[in-house]
Amino acid sequence: MAMIEKNAPTMEKELKLFSIWEVDEVPLPELTKELWDQIYNFQAKPDDLILATYPKSGTHWMQEILDMIQNDGDVEKCKRDHSLHRYPFLELKFPHKEKPDWVIALEMSSPRLIKTHLPSHLIPPSIWKENCKIVYVARNPKDCLVSYYHFHRMASYLPDPQNLEEFYEKFVLGKVFYGSWFDHVKGWWAAKDTHQILYLFYEDIKKDPKREIEKILKFLEKDISEEILNKIIYHTSFDVMKQNPMANYTTWPTSIMDHSISPFMRKGMPGDWKNYFTVAQNEEFDKDYQNKMAGSTLTFRTEI
Ligand code: A3P
Repeated sequence: MAMIEKNAPTMEKELKLFSIWEVDEVPLPELTKELWDQIYNFQAKPDDLILATYPKSGTHWMQEILDMIQNDGDVEKCKRDHSLHRYPFLELKFPHKEKPDWVIALEMSSPRLIKTHLPSHLIPPSIWKENCKIVYVARNPKDCLVSYYHFHRMASYLPDPQNLEEFYEKFVLGKVFYGSWFDHVKGWWAAKDTHQILYLFYEDIKKDPKREIEKILKFLEKDISEEILNKIIYHTSFDVMKQNPMANYTTWPTSIMDHSISPFMRKGMPGDWKNYFTVAQNEEFDKDYQNKMAGSTLTFRTEI
């Protein structure tokens, strides 16, 4: 937290410069550009746990769940630092940090938890080679789009989304950071047939956190008591995380994230897209979805 306060002026200056460059036609933050070779050649270890998501799919939520699991439900340990500093974001270099996150990952003790928004085909090959366990969280695209739109409104380092219509167009064309939602969820869905990937859905976690956390425990071969499990469910619920300064980004300067425009912990509820999509947009989206997802066995719930 102190790091954020001390470096606020640098963050304000440099985060405003966040712009797009492309790898393999996937738009990524330009901060990644000069480090791309090192990131792609990152050396994973067999006991690394990777958390992969498309942006706004519940990354911070799952990180909190995994952190609580790794720390046996110790809430104070999970408040040791802000979300962004507890675990590295593989492909990012933040101006307020002295080192890129992949270097921070290299210096971490094992077992490491490493986050990424990269599509499966851009993942460092060593992650596959070392057969790391990967938790992937997917969220239905309509809520993802709305959440991403609001995030662009409140985070000053992201391009101004103008209005929902404009952002909608960019999202369906994959002209947003990390590219096409469709390619992302399909790529990771295919990858799970040949790798150790636990593919979870935001809506399922919301509907039945106990069942989904039990799946994670099984995947990680970890046993915890019923009491700790309940503690994890409580501590990682939307209302509790929204009040947690180590998870809600309210300690960041408002010039970087302005929660009065839209809070980072915004709604946390499947189906919010209905408050934003027009009937015509929804019909158009469904048609586009049918085309882009044709042949896929993936299914999403757009409400619970
Ligand atoms: P909304 O904008 O729809 O509220 P990410 O962490 O990938 O950036 O995703 C952010 C989204 O996850 C936001 O969605 C945020 O509110 C939601 N979220 C964060 N913690 C959550 C929780 N504990 N339960 C449900 N949703 C959560």
